[in-house]
Amino acid sequence: MSKIRSESAVVILARAQALEAQGRPVINLGIGAPDFRTPDNIVEAGRQALADGWHGYTPAKGIAELREAVVEDLHRLHGASVSADNLLVVPGGKPTMFFAMLMLGEPGIEIMYPDPGFPIYASMVGFSGATPVPIQVEESTGFSIDPDKVLSQITDRTRLLILNSPGNPTGGVIGREEMDALVAGLADHPDVYLMSDEIYSRIVFGDAEFVSAVEYEEIIDRLILLNGWSKNWAMPGWRLGWGLWPNSLIEGAETLQINANSCANAAAQVAAIEALQGPQDSVAEMRNAYEKRTSYIADALDALPGISCPRPRGAFYIFPNISGTGLGSDEFQDRLLDEADLAVVSGTSFGAHGEGHIRISCAASMGELEEGVARIERFLSG
Ligand SMILES: Cc1ncc(COP(=O)(O)O)c(C=O)c1O
Repeated sequence: MSKIRSESAVVILARAQALEAQGRPVINLGIGAPDFRTPDNIVEAGRQALADGWHGYTPAKGIAELREAVVEDLHRLHGASVSADNLLVVPGGKPTMFFAMLMLGEPGIEIMYPDPGFPIYASMVGFSGATPVPIQVEESTGFSIDPDKVLSQITDRTRLLILNSPGNPTGGVIGREEMDALVAGLADHPDVYLMSDEIYSRIVFGDAEFVSAVEYEEIIDRLILLNGWSKNWAMPGWRLGWGLWPNSLIEGAETLQINANSCANAAAQVAAIEALQGPQDSVAEMRNAYEKRTSYIADALDALPGISCPRPRGAFYIFPNISGTGLGSDEFQDRLLDEADLAVVSGTSFGAHGEGHIRISCAASMGELEEGVARIERFLSG
């Protein structure tokens, strides 16, 4: 237990709430949850499911109709032909990574993960006893990956490589060229599993193309695909996600599910079918709002002295470089909250390579973002 970590975004959120309770007008741009409500048609499907008696356990892997709906979606969007037998519906995105680490992590092996990246990767790798090997996600690549560099970090002890696109906290999207090169290089490392965290898959901006790892048939026997409903359909509190597992791991993952959860929430599973098969206009509206907000705030911050802000290509975060202000990331985060009542998250919360950056979540209203920019401007000039 001494090796497991929490998410610092949660810690800063608690500090922001404590200040708010003292009557301070805090604006919170730290949270990584959509500010939208779940679309009405999905809520109605969940309500109806409860009225219809979806009160019992479902099969551990999830109800068949939902798993088929996910398989159809992967076929329609990515031309993938995968089997519903390899799908495990779980309570959120996190259980898939938890199960992967429990099955693959152990002392003596290495697990590579993006840094800066979602903090739970490093936490879980450490918890499993495996050696964490950070892959530096660099601003110079638009926060994508450099496939040659990643491949050069693989050793005889590497068992799992984690990727995340669109990425938290950077908004980076891994392009087709990079994925092609990475997958081609993985042919020389047949024992390395890939876990691709695609939880922001429907939140991609402008001409950026989302490339799913499921498009690469040659690695399907060692691919763990992680996705879910929390971000794309604004359903984080419903706790629903899925993992696509290779034949060698699906049985173990199912057994872990039986031990940990029995199954995912039944009514939420029914609602998730509606999310996949019902109208998608709300998804497009949310995506457009995130794009408008992230580009507004990236431009506004870019104009401030000491800050440069690359435009994100997906997800709903921006990850400005604040090193020109002369402040370290932790100090910037702490002082911004204490002196300007604005909560953002230090880049170091996402790994050592996040130093020099802060993460701002654009899952907030335009009014809050405008006020946030004004507070940063005042903070820097004061
Ligand atoms: C990259 C990434 N993966 C997974 C998750 C976990 O999602 P869930 O809330 O569905 O467990 C998050 C949530 O912030 C995330 O940012």
